[in-house]
Amino acid sequence: MTPAVSFQAVGKVYGSGAKTLSALTDVSLTIEQGEFFALLGPNGAGKTTMIGIMSGLVRPTQGSVQVMGFDVQSQGPEARRALGVVPQELVFDPFFTVRETLRIQSGFFGLSKNDDWIDECLTALGLLDKANANMRALSGGMKRRVLVAQALVHRPPVIVLDEPTAGVDIDLRESLWRFIQKLNGQGHTILLTTHYLEEAEQLCNRVGFLKKGRLVSVQDTSSLLASSSLEQAFRRILAEAA
Ligand SMILES: Nc1ncnc2c1ncn2[C@@H]1O[C@H](COP(=O)(O)OP(=O)(O)OP(=O)(O)O)[C@@H](O)[C@H]1O
Ligand SMILES: [Mg+2]
Repeated sequence: MTPAVSFQAVGKVYGSGAKTLSALTDVSLTIEQGEFFALLGPNGAGKTTMIGIMSGLVRPTQGSVQVMGFDVQSQGPEARRALGVVPQELVFDPFFTVRETLRIQSGFFGLSKNDDWIDECLTALGLLDKANANMRALSGGMKRRVLVAQALVHRPPVIVLDEPTAGVDIDLRESLWRFIQKLNGQGHTILLTTHYLEEAEQLCNRVGFLKKGRLVSVQDTSSLLASSSLEQAFRRILAEAA
């Protein structure tokens, strides 16, 4: 089967001349369809850069990336359609309502009659009563919920969540994970970054550890947890990779 995501020897250097920063070095990773994969690492390790490269927003300096077999560089539109990304930063247009935002996003993918699915997403994310509210009138956690719904409007086979639960209350965490687990059960591949290791521990079948732009370890969660907690493993793996 075609892998959901494939990174081949990917490198990323930001900047030029004397001021350069190597954000990713020789990252190779294959995530199979149907996996729930966690990408873990300290601040600045390169997680968001990897996601930026997958979504075509960041150009790799080296290597290549495919999403559902589509090359991000040479088959951009197909690769983007296969992917839904919940970004780490809150970005939104304050002048639209929640429903308008989701309809516009659907329009980008040529989906004109998408309200049934939009309603299902709004319901699952506890946003139905805010459907007609302007984006600027939402709290921070609610805006994040809309970003999740926005990433899902076209039912992408690969769903990427970049710290989706930062600043989100317990109720939404629970409903968000229930919804994402349901989608994973239906065959969607999930890639998650989080600093809440218990989320990765409970949800993910595999974890990858990034340190200073290098993917230093990829392991099955179950075999990792047989000998230690994920937090202990995280500390040990990052210390050993020093
Ligand atoms: N546009 C940019 N220009 C220059 N440097 C950048 C840019 N984006 C990221 N970096 C640098 O690349 C490195 C990796 O950043 P990245 O955002 O990928 O980390 P991260 O693992 O997502 O961290 P966090 O957990 O804080 O979100 C950092 O040193 C960061 O400062
Ligand atoms: Mg990040």
